[in-house]
Amino acid sequence: MIELSIDGMSVRVPPGTSIMHAAKTVGVDIAKLCATDSLKAFGSCRLCIVQVEGRRGLPASCTTPVEPGMVVRTQTPQVARVRRNVMELYISDHPLDCLTCAANGDCELQDMAGAVGLREVRYGYDGANHLVAEKDESNPYFTFDPTKCIVCSRCVRACDEIQGTFALSITDRGFASKVSAGMNEGFLASECVSCGACVQACPTATLTEKTVIEAGQPDRTVKTTCAYCGVGCSFEAQLKGNDVVRMVPAADGGANEGHSCVKGRFAWGYATHADRVLSPMVRERITDNWRQVSWDEAIDFAATKFASIQRRHGRDAIGGVSSSRCTNEEVYVVQKMIRAAFGNNNIDTCARVCHSPTGYGLKQTFGTAAGTQDFKSVAHADVIVVIGANPTDAHPVFAARMKRRLRQGAKLIVIDPRRIDLVRSPHIRAEHHLQLRPGTNVAVINALAHVIVTEGLMNDAFIDARCDARSYEQWKAFIAQPEQSPEATEAYSGVPAADLRAAARLYATGGNAAIYYGLGVTEHSQGSTMVLGIANLAMVAGQIGRDGTGVNPLRGQNNVQGSCDMGSFPHELPGYRHISDDATRNTFEQAWNVALDPEPGLRIPNMLSLALGGQFRGMFIQGEDLAQSDPNTLHVTSALSAMECVVVQDLFLNETAKYAHVFLPGTAFLEKDGTFTNAERRINRVRPAMPPRTGLHEWEAVCRFASALGYPMHYESAAHIMDEIASLTPTFSGVSFDYLDQVGSVQWPCTADSPLGTRIMHEQQFVRGRGRFLVTQYVPTEERSTRKYPLLLTTGRILSQYNVGTATRRTANTVWHPEDILEIHPHDAEVRGIGTGDGVLLSSRKGDITLHAQVSDRVPEGVVYTTFHHPENAANVVTTEFSDWATNCPEYKVTAVEVQPVD
Ligand code: SF4
Ligand code: SF4
Ligand code: SF4
Ligand code: FES
Repeated sequence: MIELSIDGMSVRVPPGTSIMHAAKTVGVDIAKLCATDSLKAFGSCRLCIVQVEGRRGLPASCTTPVEPGMVVRTQTPQVARVRRNVMELYISDHPLDCLTCAANGDCELQDMAGAVGLREVRYGYDGANHLVAEKDESNPYFTFDPTKCIVCSRCVRACDEIQGTFALSITDRGFASKVSAGMNEGFLASECVSCGACVQACPTATLTEKTVIEAGQPDRTVKTTCAYCGVGCSFEAQLKGNDVVRMVPAADGGANEGHSCVKGRFAWGYATHADRVLSPMVRERITDNWRQVSWDEAIDFAATKFASIQRRHGRDAIGGVSSSRCTNEEVYVVQKMIRAAFGNNNIDTCARVCHSPTGYGLKQTFGTAAGTQDFKSVAHADVIVVIGANPTDAHPVFAARMKRRLRQGAKLIVIDPRRIDLVRSPHIRAEHHLQLRPGTNVAVINALAHVIVTEGLMNDAFIDARCDARSYEQWKAFIAQPEQSPEATEAYSGVPAADLRAAARLYATGGNAAIYYGLGVTEHSQGSTMVLGIANLAMVAGQIGRDGTGVNPLRGQNNVQGSCDMGSFPHELPGYRHISDDATRNTFEQAWNVALDPEPGLRIPNMLSLALGGQFRGMFIQGEDLAQSDPNTLHVTSALSAMECVVVQDLFLNETAKYAHVFLPGTAFLEKDGTFTNAERRINRVRPAMPPRTGLHEWEAVCRFASALGYPMHYESAAHIMDEIASLTPTFSGVSFDYLDQVGSVQWPCTADSPLGTRIMHEQQFVRGRGRFLVTQYVPTEERSTRKYPLLLTTGRILSQYNVGTATRRTANTVWHPEDILEIHPHDAEVRGIGTGDGVLLSSRKGDITLHAQVSDRVPEGVVYTTFHHPENAANVVTTEFSDWATNCPEYKVTAVEVQPVD
């Protein structure tokens, strides 16, 4: 520690601390403009000057490190004079419109003018200035008004250091210096991804949210959690009355630490969109018009129908689906209603179609169905492996964190058929891009493990100490077979053997190596096998159980981890305990005062198939758009049409609601009270910024429905639901709303032994005891390219849209992605006579859709790619019924197709 004196006070701080930060530790706030806590010091504004005894001149305190014995004075007449002079210069070239400025009351320039005691501007306001510079209003969410810019570079540095997009620069020199987006082309046309980091960093009104310009400064704040993706960013909802003025990423948010992406930061308007349905509705037939009714009438209507179905067709003829968009508490009551009031286990979740193989694979190998690390852990990784995930689009705030580590020098291996942005982005180049053919994941993961085993790169000490010896020996004998070698698999995986060998060596020997994966791993007929293969790889290299390592599924939806934790699978009660386990079932039976069926219930695909056969007739669908998001749309819609009563609980009349008989209006995240659990197992509070616009919380509607079916269900509040979850789920035993309000957030397991939660799993031993290796035989999918369908279609998401687009299509985000586009390789396009912008017919053996094409070498020859955000494009019309062997997760990522030009 270094000791120095600041304004007569003795200060001890670590070496490398700036004078400005040292002063802050003793309560001295030095005036500043270009410095901010989230960015590296820059030293451009000179407002933070101080006097240092024995040193000439007035050094900037933000860039000057402390030295032993330094004597610093932050307030002297000379310092005050120079600071005032600096401010005079700024203000002499600044519009004098404070009273009408959008930032009035929230402007650092204004604050600093007060702090330095500015009373006059001796230079006057005449002469050259920047007061006529043109505004850039191209971005739909924020304005750039250069007349107010003080060229402090905070925006440029935020874009570089926090977001890593490098969209901004200071162009020209001296008096002509100005902030430019891209090649001086305006924010919308530039590479800017609208994360908002620059807006957040700007100390003036130069970069300002349009909503603030329109509505004025907010007058209250509610801390909550973004409802889009599995990163789970914390935000301050800043409001005026019940109107949101802006969403500001929370600096103390465990997952995001003050950062955001365009969706959470700006695309929240859907929550109060005019399309929302706010009152319950019913109809006898799906061809009838909807009839608005009271909550009581809607619930009685649905309960009467469901009871009648069960009387006539048996207890198992109804079931339901819970939503990963909803809170843990809302999901918990839905699965409880189905088990206790429906009397069966026909509960499934939308996680079925995304990460169900993760649950299966990680439970089998490690003993727990969740990712192993917190997001911060990536800062300790020396090698980062990204498999079948596109973090810059789908998990942008985590991607920004990952990119920071990559810019510091960590090596990157990308395993993906498509050249995702991470492969080549500013200051980042992947060391290896294993551009495999869709459907050959398991062959590639096996080949990586084969290299490690046959080249003797195993971590024997880890395996001996931590893993099950018998399973290891069996697996080792399998993986060492020549058929698993990179040379043998190259022919069908398309990955050059030498590249694969180099990647395997890097993973095993390059220091801490962490794997992050997405739906490109799970949504295959061998999705579960691939998750097992990833776990095998991490264990054989000993890359698990410490910072910078691990196996990390990047969860899609905001609460997909939570909805699985809450017992949404037909075979598992909350906490991943099998329904057939007598002891667990008895605990729930006693707590819920009901007998539970010990047999697992139906999965979504089984419910749909049985509906077509007439055995399954009623479904409760909480916040999921099955008709758009599930594969083989025609099969799904036929099954929905065949049912007697479909109850949809949602914000909007989505595609599925076209087949519904009862519509129960849901609540948007700004109205919810509860918790979401993100991809790092972090339980975040979701606090209501406004009362439910529908008059009822979703959990209240579900409780009333259960009660109408004859099983009385009642809670005082969402906090009481969490208390029940905690009392019945060991990994949640330390969780309550009060506790979360105290500590911010926790990663489960949160128990008496780990009251602050668990950052990293399996540190000393695996949850299941010893890590289990499992043989992962590669079995090619039955979905093959043929002469009729010679191309393979794979799908993914784009940054500005979210899943089936129900929310984002109702925001200005459509400016970036108004429709789904088909990416096709230049060679495949040329032989078909297709150019960028042309209409194309995409056909599979399941159906046809039309799209516009984009010719791009991001996809390899033989592969085409599209997103699935727009119902008009209906990408899932073409996807097939093939699914993962263990979990029925659909094989979205491989569909044999043909593409032809159409008018
Ligand atoms: S736009 Fe804001 S943050 Fe960027 S240089 Fe200008 S004043 Fe500074
Ligand atoms: S919004 Fe984000 S990406 Fe765009 S310029 Fe600002 S910091 Fe960069
Ligand atoms: S990264 Fe995900 S959680 Fe964070 S703001 Fe974006 S959409 Fe929301
Ligand atoms: S705050 Fe130190 S030079 Fe700007």
